[in-house]
Amino acid sequence: MQASPLNFAQPVLDAQTIQDVSAVLQSNWIATGPKVAALEAALSARFGGRPTRLLTSATGAMEVALRVCGIGPGDEVITSAQSFFSTMNMIVKVGARPVFVDCVLPSRAIDLAQVEAAITPRSKAIMPTHFPGSLVDMDALYALARRHGLRVIEDAALVQGSCWNGQAVGGFGDIATFSFHPNKNMTTIEGGAIVLASEDEAKRVDIERFHGIARLPDGTRDVVAACGKFNMSDVSAAIGLRQLAQLDGFLATRAALVARYFERFPAIAGAMLPPRGMARQSWNMFCVMLPFETMALDRKQVRDALQQRGIATGISYEALHTTTLGRGLGYAEGDFPNAERVGRQTVTLPLHAAMTAADVDRVCAAVAQIVAG
Ligand SMILES: Cc1ncc(COP(=O)(O)O)c(C=O)c1O
Repeated sequence: MQASPLNFAQPVLDAQTIQDVSAVLQSNWIATGPKVAALEAALSARFGGRPTRLLTSATGAMEVALRVCGIGPGDEVITSAQSFFSTMNMIVKVGARPVFVDCVLPSRAIDLAQVEAAITPRSKAIMPTHFPGSLVDMDALYALARRHGLRVIEDAALVQGSCWNGQAVGGFGDIATFSFHPNKNMTTIEGGAIVLASEDEAKRVDIERFHGIARLPDGTRDVVAACGKFNMSDVSAAIGLRQLAQLDGFLATRAALVARYFERFPAIAGAMLPPRGMARQSWNMFCVMLPFETMALDRKQVRDALQQRGIATGISYEALHTTTLGRGLGYAEGDFPNAERVGRQTVTLPLHAAMTAADVDRVCAAVAQIVAG
């Protein structure tokens, strides 16, 4: 009998969520309204009271963050070649140039020595992506940024709930962006948040996320800049409010599942697991790196064999500088060996709050069996 399908990511939406959504749908106020305001306040409380704004995605939040920092044509943003596509895309979209540097392994954190070496008079910001299990050294990152007068836009899409020295990511520093896509630690269907250090910049986000509109004292509207539309709906925010109430439970389940992965993952010569050293990290993904170059099966064959057993996997992530867009910026294979190694070897195994320890055992047993041939 075929075992039940195991998604590699999946949201947990309970009966209360459905009731809350239903109430919003019946309230005659379904676009941005009181639920968005309530979720912004609740998130802000978790980020040490810092100004927090909701948007329609983390990708949109990154674009808005770059615009709020005044970054555009002629500017450079130093970013890791190992990240989701949004970081590169949004830097290019605002007219700036992404200056890639490598990541360090096994944490995949941006290599700060390479960041320092990449700074030029055109550098305006550092845009690191945080990976589950171990953050970039935040003290060193912010000391570096301060020394060179650079802004920091943290891509914290994967690490809601992670802490640095007891402080929540997003609760300190410059700007952080979060994702509430259904495969993240909490969801609003699609959605994202931006957390800022200044109320003035939060007001700028209000303008950037809604047509560039500024409201005038006489009740009319002015448009102060050509901006897009990134406002979240109250339907999404109602889901987010219920998700936030459950977030600590979701994170505890994810952490227990990851502990089980570390315990049960088969010994494979040359495999690399994520680091588990740092305290109070949230676990959005469990990505392993397998030495396909020396294995009998390539990645597609391993992933297909897992899929045949009902186990879905992902790839997180292809190296950005080797994409068509990245190569068009002048980069080439060989520029960032660690990012490329992740791109070649990574497999994202199932991890979500609806899973059980038995699911993890099933994945580990299937990997062991497939790799043994
Ligand atoms: C590291 C990282 N950053 C940013 C994003 C973009 O998030 P969103 O889908 O909310 O735009 C993702 C989404 O997968 C991600 O994994």
